[in-house]
Amino acid sequence: MTAQRIEGKAISDAIRIEIGEETAKLSALGIQPGLAVVLVGEDPASKVYVGSKEKACQQLGFYSEVHRLSGDTSQEELLALIDKLNNQSTIHGILVQLPLPKHIDEKSVIDAISAAKDVDGFHPVSVGNLVIGDDSLLPCTPAGVIELIKRTVGSIAGKHAVVIGRSNIVGKPVSMLLLRENATVTICHSRTANMEEIARTADILVVAIGKAKAIGSKYVKPGAVVIDVGINRLEDGKLAGDVDYEDVLETAGYVTPVPGGVGPMTITMLMLNTLKAAKQQHAIQE
Ligand code: GUN
Repeated sequence: MTAQRIEGKAISDAIRIEIGEETAKLSALGIQPGLAVVLVGEDPASKVYVGSKEKACQQLGFYSEVHRLSGDTSQEELLALIDKLNNQSTIHGILVQLPLPKHIDEKSVIDAISAAKDVDGFHPVSVGNLVIGDDSLLPCTPAGVIELIKRTVGSIAGKHAVVIGRSNIVGKPVSMLLLRENATVTICHSRTANMEEIARTADILVVAIGKAKAIGSKYVKPGAVVIDVGINRLEDGKLAGDVDYEDVLETAGYVTPVPGGVGPMTITMLMLNTLKAAKQQHAIQE
């Protein structure tokens, strides 16, 4: 049996239709969700991501502001802009594109964003709420991973989920979200012994390590759901995930492609967070 491909683009499109319907309801109340994106410097990948976020806002009828600042912008100037956006009523979500230039302290910048507008879900208050299980804005890629799994196989409860990778942006938050869905969660990382054996017990395997094609079929239990969060540029210019897609096809039950799996979900979840932030700031019930 060949694994079923999880179509991230199609699932993302379906969620965008739902967001469009909610946005129309808000519009009838005179509310337009607003997102501010801040880009410092000229990182080519970041420029592409920021452009995609701006386009998604236009498509969904959100108000958007993109602040493109030069690479020599000081930390004080950036913090002053965040302060202004924190107090601007047309803006419900603020995203500062990472990575930032070396002379700027990322943590100080993330901490300065109002938790109510933290649509990246990176602020310590958002992270704390996630761990406690309180309502909060969820980090976009991990939230997208959960939506992909739920819309593909339904309930996650009682499943053994193995997460390979423990970054603050993906591995840790996705583990907490899987736990919140009542999975039994194991986190593996570079120092884990017997990683293959552990991974082979997973009903759901989430891989976020940033190493092209590192995870092949020997890590996969027959029939498992494999979610590949990696995006790596190969020497020939092509994109590859952290999972060896061709190799796991005969073993996995479901697998996300790269590109076209987790990637399309991330911006859609950012839009969902902006919508949610707008509702909360206008005290509208979910
Ligand atoms: N750079 C790469 N991924 C992300 C992300 O999810 N949020 C932000 N702010 N920057 C990023």
